[in-house]
Amino acid sequence: MSDQKPEKTERYLSGIQPTGQLHLGNYFGAIRQHIEHQHAGNSFYFIANYHALTTVHDAAQLRAYTFDVAATYLALGLDPALCVFFRQSDIPEVPELTWLLMTATAMGDLQRAVSYKDKVERGLPASAGLFNYPVLMAADILAYESTIVPVGRDQVQHVEMTRAMARSFNDQYGQEVFTLPRHQLSEAPAVLGLDGAKMSKSYDNTIPLFLSGKPLKKLVMSIVTDSTPLEEPKDPERCTVFALYSLFASAEERAEMASRYRGRGFGFGAAKQALLEKIEERFAAPRQRFEKLRAEPSFVEDVLRDGAARARAVAGAVAERARQACGVG
Ligand code: TRP
Repeated sequence: MSDQKPEKTERYLSGIQPTGQLHLGNYFGAIRQHIEHQHAGNSFYFIANYHALTTVHDAAQLRAYTFDVAATYLALGLDPALCVFFRQSDIPEVPELTWLLMTATAMGDLQRAVSYKDKVERGLPASAGLFNYPVLMAADILAYESTIVPVGRDQVQHVEMTRAMARSFNDQYGQEVFTLPRHQLSEAPAVLGLDGAKMSKSYDNTIPLFLSGKPLKKLVMSIVTDSTPLEEPKDPERCTVFALYSLFASAEERAEMASRYRGRGFGFGAAKQALLEKIEERFAAPRQRFEKLRAEPSFVEDVLRDGAARARAVAGAVAERARQACGVG
C-alpha cells in the first residue's frame, strides 16, 4: 500500500440560464470555457430553466431559449460523451433539496444576497422565487457533489452561501450529507457591447451568436466609435471595435491591427470590416451545425434526457442521504 494520498477527483459544475438569445458575451465569458474544460473530465453542465422562471414568464419563449442553449452548446462542440449535459427541470431531486436546504438557511443570509438586491433595484419583481434563488442554486451545486464551481465574480457570493447552507444542514443532523464546494473565478475577458459598456442582454447592446450576413453587418457597423478623422492616428486601447477584434485575433493579428490604428489613413470602417470577417469565419461551421440541430429537435432532446439520467444517478443518492438524515426518507 502506498502512503501517498490518492488525488481527489474534482467535480466541476456550471449552469447557464436560458433567458435570452445567446451572444458573444456569453460565448467568451462562459460557453467557450465550459466546452474547453470538458476534456478535463468529470464536468456537469446544465441549463438552469428553473432559475430562468424568475425572469421569463412566457412558456413558448422559455422552451425556445432552453432549446437554443442546448443546440448552441452542441453546435459549438460540447460532446455529451465527455461531460454530463442536462436540463435542470429534469432532476426532481433539485427542487426537493431546495426545500430541505431552506429549512437550514437563515433568512438573514438570504437578505444579504447582493444579486437579489441588484435585481430588485433593476426592477425585477421581488418574488419569493427570486429571493430563494440562491437556495435553488445551492441545491444544484450540492445535488451532484460538486467540488468546484467555475463562476464569474457576480456569482461568488452564491457559492459562499452554498457552503454555509451545506455546513448548516450537515451540522444540524450531525452527518456529512453534503460535500462543500468552492468557487473558481473564471478568467473571462471583458466583452464590450455595441455601445462600449459590458455586453449584456439587459443593456440591449449584444451581438447574437450565429448572426450572419446583412443583419450581422448592420450591427457591427453600428458599434459606437469616437470621431477621430480618418487621417488622424487612433488609440486602439480605447476602441470597442479593437477590443472585440482582439477576442478573435492571434497575437500577431492584434499587433498588426494596433499599428494600423496608430498610423494614418486607417478608419473605423475598415476595422469593423475586419471584425465582421472574424465573426463570420469563427462561427461559420457552428452556425451550420446549429441550423441542422434546429431541424432535428428530437436529437437534442435525446441528448438532454440521457444527460438527465446520468445526473439523476448522482442526485438520487444525495437526496436519499438527505432524506434519511432529516427523517423524511
Ligand atoms: N446563477 C447562475 C447565473 O446566473 C446560474 C446557475 C444556476 C448556476 N445554478 C447554478 C451556476 C449552479 C453555477 C452552479 O449565472
